[in-house]
Amino acid sequence: MDAAGWDERYRGSELVWKAGPNRFVEEGLAGLSPSGRAVDLAAGEGRNAVWPAEHGWEVDAVDFSAVALRKAERLAAERGVRLRTVHADLTVWTPPNTPYDLALITYLHLPWPEMAQVLSKAAGCVRSGGTLLLVGHDAANPEQGHGGPQDARVLYGAELWRPHADILRAETVGRAVTDTEGGSRTALDALVRAVRK
Ligand SMILES: C[S@@+](CC[C@H](N)C(=O)[O-])C[C@H]1O[C@@H](n2cnc3c(N)ncnc32)[C@H](O)[C@@H]1O
Repeated sequence: MDAAGWDERYRGSELVWKAGPNRFVEEGLAGLSPSGRAVDLAAGEGRNAVWPAEHGWEVDAVDFSAVALRKAERLAAERGVRLRTVHADLTVWTPPNTPYDLALITYLHLPWPEMAQVLSKAAGCVRSGGTLLLVGHDAANPEQGHGGPQDARVLYGAELWRPHADILRAETVGRAVTDTEGGSRTALDALVRAVRK
């Protein structure tokens, strides 16, 4: 979907995603010392950017939907924190010169080679020793999980970060989805946590 399509999806006053952070982001960042600069790539309405900001990180939130970023700013203001929002298409985004300590990507699913470009930029914009955290719909999700993109060509694994980072964790994890018509279901997510070499 292009930026106009995402703007349309985000246009209502309600949040499309929840206000609270994704549980794997919360768990993944809980053990890190919150003293640095973080970037949330494809931040959407900011649920995963606001949470680290509340925990002491200085956070940049990048997305190509201006409507989503306005909602992210509103969410941050409601929580009494600041986000620096950056309106940019990640496929052509140039990271700042000062490297980040942490890069997050959650549920961004682009076709190749755009996704490869973004993952490579994410690795490149983090300092040596910094953290990379990727959460997305797992390749097994269409068959065995729930929701998310059904096209296996936009799903991915940890291998793209291997040349740049030491992979600490790369696995398929279950996430309970309770608000479905058929009751509670389990979505399968890909979770990758890595340290930049
Ligand atoms: C499924 S949403 C996930 C939002 C957020 N990461 C979260 O988990 O709540 C995907 C997001 O990716 C953004 N996006 C998709 N393609 C993009 C691109 N090329 N550049 C920047 N943002 C993009 C969309 O605007 C949307 O906000």
